[in-house]
Amino acid sequence: MVGRLALVSLFCCLVAGLTVVNAEDPYLYYTWNVSYGTVTPLGVPQQVILINGQFPGPNINSTSNNNVIVNVFNNLDEPFLLTWNGIQQRKNSWQDGTLGAQCPIAPGKNFTYHFQVKDQIGSYFYYPSTGVHRAVGGFGGLRVNSRLLIPVPYLDPEDDYTVLINDWYTKSHAQLKGLLDSGKLFGRPNGVLINGKSGKEANSAPLFTMKPGKTYKYRICNVGMKTTLNFRIQGHPMKLVEMEGSHVVQNVYESLDVHVGQCYSVLVTADKEPRDYYMVASTRFTKKVQTATGIIAYTNSNAPASPVLPEAPVGWAWSLNQFRTFRWNLTASAARPNPQGSYHYGQINITRTIKIVNNNAKVGGKLRYTINGVSHVDGATPLKLAEYYGFPEKVFKYNIIKDDPVPEVAPIIAPNVANITFRTFVEVIFENHETTIQSWHLDGYSFFAVAMEPGKWTPEKRKNYNLLDGVSRHTIQVFPHSWSAVMLTFDNAGMWNLRSELTERRYLGQQMYISVLSPEKSLRDEYNIPENAELCGLVTGLPKPQPYSI
Ligand SMILES: *[C@@H]1O[C@H](CO)[C@@H](O)[C@H](O)[C@H]1NC(C)=O
Ligand SMILES: *[C@@H]1O[C@H](CO)[C@@H](O)[C@H](O)[C@H]1NC(C)=O
Ligand SMILES: *[C@@H]1O[C@H](CO)[C@@H](O)[C@H](O)[C@H]1NC(C)=O
Ligand SMILES: *[C@@H]1O[C@H](CO)[C@@H](O)[C@H](O)[C@H]1NC(C)=O
Ligand SMILES: *[C@@H]1O[C@H](CO)[C@@H](O)[C@H](O)[C@H]1NC(C)=O
Ligand SMILES: *[C@@H]1O[C@H](CO)[C@@H](O)[C@H](O)[C@H]1NC(C)=O
Repeated sequence: MVGRLALVSLFCCLVAGLTVVNAEDPYLYYTWNVSYGTVTPLGVPQQVILINGQFPGPNINSTSNNNVIVNVFNNLDEPFLLTWNGIQQRKNSWQDGTLGAQCPIAPGKNFTYHFQVKDQIGSYFYYPSTGVHRAVGGFGGLRVNSRLLIPVPYLDPEDDYTVLINDWYTKSHAQLKGLLDSGKLFGRPNGVLINGKSGKEANSAPLFTMKPGKTYKYRICNVGMKTTLNFRIQGHPMKLVEMEGSHVVQNVYESLDVHVGQCYSVLVTADKEPRDYYMVASTRFTKKVQTATGIIAYTNSNAPASPVLPEAPVGWAWSLNQFRTFRWNLTASAARPNPQGSYHYGQINITRTIKIVNNNAKVGGKLRYTINGVSHVDGATPLKLAEYYGFPEKVFKYNIIKDDPVPEVAPIIAPNVANITFRTFVEVIFENHETTIQSWHLDGYSFFAVAMEPGKWTPEKRKNYNLLDGVSRHTIQVFPHSWSAVMLTFDNAGMWNLRSELTERRYLGQQMYISVLSPEKSLRDEYNIPENAELCGLVTGLPKPQPYSI
């Protein structure tokens, strides 16, 4: 019986030619046409990236265990990839959509992403990882709903709304990239958008409606370039229920600081007088505060929104204190991060500590951003493919950076790859030596965010860690001259991007890859390269390597 089952499942995978999908689970199919178009969010017509004519792109509404199939047609004039910020892609960095993991989709070509969303119930977004395409669209919301079998720790909301907020420039992506290539930065954003709108467009008709007495879920993600945004709703406190795939202790907030790359789900009840209300997103830690508003209307509204906007908090300390109020709900009967049981993370021995220090440097008179003194560059051959084909040394060197970086001399410009032993439990310290806020994201994993403090990290700081109910998440901010600590088990084999979510920094080298190899080259640990994978650079035209064994 056991043998027969194994055969059947092997058969399914061979037939599908994918080894990725689990045939019993439902499929969601999307065909996306990525093209340029023109929109006018800040009163100036400008070139943006559309998906099926939409800006922002379509929402993916999935349920845990769904197989998501997205066939992306690149109708731009440049190579393109989408990455699925925070979706873990278990055993499947092939679908991660970063240039170290897969070849880009050439102009005029298409690539079909196949991935299965697991028990990471929550709010996410996708965005272009190539060039600075992200600056002009191509992003959209991605939800993972709970299967009916698994209860969520709150009543079903009346409706469920996605709110993508971001700083915004009126320049084209080519102009913005030109600035970075010439050693300059983007400068101050031209404005803030809510779901791709601002000004009149966002304030002449309601973005959302609420029935009196009912409770709604809002999924708020900062999809921007570099600016933390404070989000709030006039007269309506928000009950936080989920953060980057974890159910959290349900505290009530007047406003939330959403750092770049982060997502929060909140519940809002329409229990105030029947009128319109503004939702507000405003920049934090900037000299000049920029604000966007959008209208939420009660269905029985009888008055416009009051022009008096709720105040934003001031200063870093407020934001740091807010982080400390975030707690994982240990009793929610929802899915746990992998591996099962790792939620007792405070009892696992640390096998390695890696300190990640961000900095900047001038190289040949041009600005570069670094991690531990190394500024990453993407080459023509994806790192993952060089490794999979057995000649990593032709493309990169492992471990140029040290776990405990020494004070920097001249920065090195090279592909930045560290390898970590499969299934080891690692502590990562992010130390920010600069004067601006940082936001770090790791693909392929969630990590436990255990501490955040001003100053420099020392081993003694471990006694301040939250070893009980730190939230398992994928993106963490680091305040200026401060550090943040996370812990995780590297149990997902693949080549995973660790990046600054701040576009200028990432583009100018502040990103790296973590290689986690399956020691047995087993399909239990990692899928084979997909049939439809493009081959580029040094692997162009080479036959696919011997498949992994079961
Ligand atoms: C994709 O969009 C481009 C630009 O709008 C258009 O020319 C093309 O026909 C579209 N392709 C499909 C398959 O819809
Ligand atoms: C999203 O999917 C869930 C579960 O299938 C469904 O209940 C809900 O109506 C969907 N929402 C939208 C906006 O399609
Ligand atoms: C491109 O799209 C076609 C269907 O239109 C599909 O058969 C093919 O597999 C896709 N190519 C890739 C590389 O996914
Ligand atoms: C945690 O989840 C449980 C189970 O669903 C729920 O009853 C409880 O209210 C939640 N606790 C908090 C503090 O939010
Ligand atoms: C963790 O380390 C301590 C001290 O070195 C040791 O006594 C203990 O057995 C280890 N625990 C596990 C689970 O390996
Ligand atoms: C990392 O790569 C180096 C160089 O190939 C190798 O010697 C080492 O064993 C690897 N370590 C891990 C943890 O995979």
